[in-house]
Amino acid sequence: MKTVPSFSTKAAPVIIDGKAASQAIVEQVKAAVVAEHLRPGLAVLLVGSDPASAVYVRNKGLRAKECGFHSEQIDLDENTSEGELLAVIGRLNSDENIHGILVQLPLPRHIDAHKVIQAIHPMKDVDGFHYVNVGHLASGALGDALVPCTPLGSLHLIQQHLGNDLSGKHAVVIGRSNIVGKPMASLLLQHNCTVTVLHSRTFEPEKLCRQADIVVAAVGVPGLVKADWIKPGALVIDVGINRIELADGNSRLVGDVAFDEVAPLTSAITPVPGGVGPMTIALLMQNTLSVARRFKKVGLTMR
Ligand code: GUN
Repeated sequence: MKTVPSFSTKAAPVIIDGKAASQAIVEQVKAAVVAEHLRPGLAVLLVGSDPASAVYVRNKGLRAKECGFHSEQIDLDENTSEGELLAVIGRLNSDENIHGILVQLPLPRHIDAHKVIQAIHPMKDVDGFHYVNVGHLASGALGDALVPCTPLGSLHLIQQHLGNDLSGKHAVVIGRSNIVGKPMASLLLQHNCTVTVLHSRTFEPEKLCRQADIVVAAVGVPGLVKADWIKPGALVIDVGINRIELADGNSRLVGDVAFDEVAPLTSAITPVPGGVGPMTIALLMQNTLSVARRFKKVGLTMR
């Protein structure tokens, strides 16, 4: 019998470059600031000295300055009371130089994070965590909503790869946090995806995940998503940023997806680091710019 030479037509997966995508957004923000004569102001509050949070907060400030924003970092002691923090937020709410207020999470245990987030004026809530903004997003009023930055950045990467029309795609979101999972599910639903949300109590998550055209993993469990969770050709967005200790005493960042075994099955995948992470900060800049535009449009001050 004659043997037919076989060769694979499967294309190598695209490793999505979040750094490049985020830089493109930052360049647009910078250009808009100059062209529209805006001076967006961003205040980032850090309570305590968690080293990872300190790095994130510092990077947000650096990006804000790069964009030509007025940038304030407010460092508060670990023992700051809830009342003191609420007073700082009250002052920023009525500061006309400030358009965006972000309180870095997690907060120390003695502070009620829900109460703190609800104290931020919804128009300045560039994290999109206030109930007003959650409600706008959940009810489909996207024009009015400030949408959380990580889901917005993830959606940007998804549309960059699949195009703007996501109609009929089956998206599986792994994780149900208020910061990523729930708003991500709302956004994808708004973009006409069929959405399944998996969480710690889901029965046989791998079976459900295998049906997905788009997988967004945001649970904070290193390497949870394995090759047998993935339909060939799926797009995988890894939101996880987990620091793991190595045998040699060093540590490294890994995502929620077992990258080496999953990547070859996908059409495209985000790496960790260098995928979704940089997008979060870029979308924070974009949200702050949007608020500054809204304030200018209606000649609004918050006094
Ligand atoms: N901690 C981890 N991610 C976030 C975020 O997107 N916003 C805030 N405020 N804190 C975080």
